[in-house]
Amino acid sequence: MRIVGISGSPRRGGNTDTLVRRALKLCEKEGAEVEFIPLSGKKIEYCEGCFICKRNDCIKEDDAGEIFDSMEKSDALIIGSPTYFSSVSGRLKSLFDRSLPLRIRDYRLRDKIGGAIAVGGSRNGGQEFAVRDIHNWMLLHEMVVVADRETAHFGGICVGSDPADVLEDRTGLRTVDNLAQRVLDVAGKQLD
Ligand SMILES: Cc1cc2nc3c(=O)[nH]c(=O)nc-3n(C[C@H](O)[C@H](O)[C@H](O)COP(=O)(O)O)c2cc1C
Repeated sequence: MRIVGISGSPRRGGNTDTLVRRALKLCEKEGAEVEFIPLSGKKIEYCEGCFICKRNDCIKEDDAGEIFDSMEKSDALIIGSPTYFSSVSGRLKSLFDRSLPLRIRDYRLRDKIGGAIAVGGSRNGGQEFAVRDIHNWMLLHEMVVVADRETAHFGGICVGSDPADVLEDRTGLRTVDNLAQRVLDVAGKQLD
């Protein structure tokens, strides 16, 4: 089983990186092959809505293509974002928009398992909205969305402001662990 984790934070080593890495570590411990892709330092241009991608490769020369190759080769995706104004980061949204060819040319993410993580500086600061934005993207790619288990959250939902703050959010860390476990369980069943 191959699980790709994407951190949508522009801040390298920030809370989102920490949480996505944590989820992947748990998956790796359970035997999955994992890849971590931080969007910090990556060049992701905006989608221009030209629809060239209906028939040909996107004309933008940046890092999006190699990220999409990794996504295509995965069985499951765990995508994390910092909460920005109750939504995902602009960088992650740009990646989402640029993923249009994966959808309009053969639904290449169809049936992959997807889980979401969001961290915000405030409790109830819009993390659930950010998670929902990630879920919406997954659903439109016809992925299979999972939440956490037992703790009744929509994914990994955490609080933290400065880098590493999130390590003190024990309740939030549990939701991340439970999400990773749920991704493993459902992806495992699908591969059986
Ligand atoms: C532009 C911007 C908007 C933000 N908006 C919110 C918000 O709506 N709700 C919230 O709880 N935190 C918000 N924050 C705080 C971040 O979500 C928080 O610092 C988070 O830990 C950043 O994750 P990172 O360390 O992975 O970059 C915002 C931060 C920035 C820079």
